[in-house]
Amino acid sequence: MRIAVLTSGGDAPGMNAAIRAVVRACVTSNVEVFGVYDGFRGLVENKFQQLTHKDVSGLLSIGGTFLGTSRLSEFSDIEVQKKAYNNLQSKGIDALVVIGGDGSYRGAQALSKMGVKTIGLPGTIDNDVVGTEYTIGFHTAVQTIVEAIDKLRDTSTSHRRVSIVEVMGRNSGDLALYAGICGGAEFIITPENQVDKNEIFKQLSKHHKAGRRHAIIVVTENQFDVHELAKEITENSGFNSRATVLGYIQRGGSPVAQDRILASRMGAFAIELLHSNVSGVCVGVQNNILIYESFDQVVDKKKPKDDLYRLVRKIS
Ligand code: F6P
Repeated sequence: MRIAVLTSGGDAPGMNAAIRAVVRACVTSNVEVFGVYDGFRGLVENKFQQLTHKDVSGLLSIGGTFLGTSRLSEFSDIEVQKKAYNNLQSKGIDALVVIGGDGSYRGAQALSKMGVKTIGLPGTIDNDVVGTEYTIGFHTAVQTIVEAIDKLRDTSTSHRRVSIVEVMGRNSGDLALYAGICGGAEFIITPENQVDKNEIFKQLSKHHKAGRRHAIIVVTENQFDVHELAKEITENSGFNSRATVLGYIQRGGSPVAQDRILASRMGAFAIELLHSNVSGVCVGVQNNILIYESFDQVVDKKKPKDDLYRLVRKIS
C-alpha cells in the first residue's frame, strides 16, 4: 500500500505531531508514505515527497505544519479534483490522510466519492468539527488565550479597566468559552451565546459601584467591533475599557501535551483504519475513545451548544 498525507486550511499546533504519527505508523507497517506540500494545492500541482522515519524526527514539539498548508477554494471544481485524482493515480497512491477542518473535509469527501480511500483527521484550533469532542490544536490555542487573559487582567486591575479580548473561532465559540472559563471572564460572548450590550453596561456599573477593579470580556471574532464596544463601556459603566484582538498568535506555538497525544493517537488510528479497509471516514474522540464517522455525517454540520455554558452562568 502507498499512502499520502497532507495538511489543509488554517494551521494548528499538533499538525506536525499528527503527520509524524501517520508516517511512523506507515513505516512500522511497511507502507510507503508520501507528504503532499501545501495542502490540496500541492495535490493538484503534484508536490509529493516520500517521507521516512527520520524525516519526521524532532517534529512533536514544533507548531505549524512542516508540509505547509493552503485554502484552495478552486478545489470545489470537478476539473481541479480530477487533476488531484490523476496525480494520486500516477504515483500509485492508494489512500490519502487529510488533516484539517470542515473545509478540508469537503475536499477529502469529494476525492472519496471519486474512489480515493480517504481518512480525515480534525486539525483546527476552532474545535468546530462535528463527530469529535476535540480537534488537534484546540487545547494549545486555549492555553495561549488563557496566558493572554492572565496578563491582561494584571494591567486591567492596575488601571481599573475592563479588558475585551477578541479571539478566533470563526462560527464557533469554543475557544472563547473554554479560555473564558479558565481566565475567569465576567462575560463570554460567542455565536452560541449572544449577550445584550445594555445588560453588560448594567452589570459592569454594578461591579464598579461595588468597588471592583477589573473585568474581562471574551468575544469570538466577527460578532461586532470590539473597539467600538470598549468606547461604549467607557461611556456607560464607570469603567475605562480597552480591546485587544489576539489574532494569529493563537495559531502558533508548541503543542500542549493534550494536542500531542490526540494527534499521535489519531495519526496512528488513521493507518489502522486503512489496514482494516475502512475509508471515507473522519476520526474523532468521544469520552477519550477514538471513533470514526463517514464524511457525509460530519461535513457542513453544526456542533450542538456546549454544556459548559451552564457553568458560565453559575460562576461568572
Ligand atoms: O479556522 C482557523 C482560523 O484561525 C479561524 O479561527 C479564523 O477565522 C481563520 O482561520 C482565519 O483564516 P486565515 O488564516 O485564512 O486568515
